[in-house]
Amino acid sequence: MRMYDLIRKKRDGERLAKEEIDWMIRSYTNGEIPDYQMSALMMAIYFRGMNEQETLNLTLAMADSGERLDLSAIHGIKVDKHSTGGVGDKTSLALVPLVASCGIPVAKMSGRGLGHTGGTIDKLESFSGFSTAIPVETFIKNVNTIGISIMGQTADLAPADKKLYALRDVTATVDNLSLIASSIMSKKLAAGADAIVLDVKTGSGAFMKSEEDAFALAEEMVTIGKNAGRQMHALITDMDQPLGYAIGNALEVKEAIATLNGSGPEDFTELVLALGSRMLIAGKKAEDVASAEKMLRQSIQNGDALRKLEAFVKAQGGTGEEVSHPEKLPAASMQIAVPSPKSGYISHIQCDEIGVCSLLLGGGRETKDSVIDLSVGLELKKKVGDYVEKGETLAVLHANDQEKAGQAEERFLRAYRFSETQPPKRPMIFGEI
Ligand code: URA
Repeated sequence: MRMYDLIRKKRDGERLAKEEIDWMIRSYTNGEIPDYQMSALMMAIYFRGMNEQETLNLTLAMADSGERLDLSAIHGIKVDKHSTGGVGDKTSLALVPLVASCGIPVAKMSGRGLGHTGGTIDKLESFSGFSTAIPVETFIKNVNTIGISIMGQTADLAPADKKLYALRDVTATVDNLSLIASSIMSKKLAAGADAIVLDVKTGSGAFMKSEEDAFALAEEMVTIGKNAGRQMHALITDMDQPLGYAIGNALEVKEAIATLNGSGPEDFTELVLALGSRMLIAGKKAEDVASAEKMLRQSIQNGDALRKLEAFVKAQGGTGEEVSHPEKLPAASMQIAVPSPKSGYISHIQCDEIGVCSLLLGGGRETKDSVIDLSVGLELKKKVGDYVEKGETLAVLHANDQEKAGQAEERFLRAYRFSETQPPKRPMIFGEI
């Protein structure tokens, strides 16, 4: 086979056969196909697209480019969850212990944050001593004993996707539905769960800005997963403003703990219950959304969910004391209130810009090797639809550096828009597939 022929075929709008896709991914992973030829093919796919079969074949070839995680030693239906990412998205921190406390075995691989979106692993490292760099044996043993474990993505999980994603990132070929769907799903399939619940975000802080694109991406991923024999559910949810009030690693952990205590923000609690109920249904612990939500709420009320979080943190090297004493989480030296420049209703928050503010404060990674400050971030006091008086606090910046705080404040104020009338409320959940 020759890469030249595959590029030409796709350039001319023809379909690639399974054997061609398998060969191409194998040869690219082991360095036999140069980046310039793969870039040309990605651009041809970008313009010509791929059909359902090609997309599935690409996904499977990437999932098989490294070791697939074998979860067969774990009893019960393994349910994974994936979010397409956003600002203040601490969902896994609350959701994972919550569903585990209802009897769903959770064996999850998570990533670190890059750019304006955070990563679950960074957030979890706010617990002193906690580590996700654990051997697969410990990961499986913990799921079988306490029902929950999270490990970092191994280098051998879908390595073809890792290489291809980095290439797409610098060749303007990321935002193609089939390529995004196959990239995400290759990692999910390789991570071994029986059922996958997807949280596909839409809005100014999401990858998919429009509702239409978010639904299309969700459809594409659900189709791939079903064709690969997995049980699939997807919710399309709002990311037009940050989720909850906290943005920044330790601040988000605190908010997730509050949510497991029953005192979390309304929007975040609604999302956690919505995703959690789909996970309980997928794991055959509940028949319908209403009974699943009842189980989840009970687990919050009787303290099981919080105890599960503590057991999970302890099993992975932490002391777990922050769960009952969140004031022991990393805290920044300065708390700076940002006053509102005018009176009125908050009509819009440019969500990704709020993520950038957290990045500027030191809470995110500019490059893969940046060291992050777990203690910094923002605590919003006003969100879309709220009325604010001039001079009233819009948010509190948690900072360790005056200059960075100044830059973040300037950027923050540019992200807020005001109006004289109250804007219509956006739903948290746009739909389900
Ligand atoms: N996230 C991924 O993992 N892959 C993409 O292509 C886009 C987002």
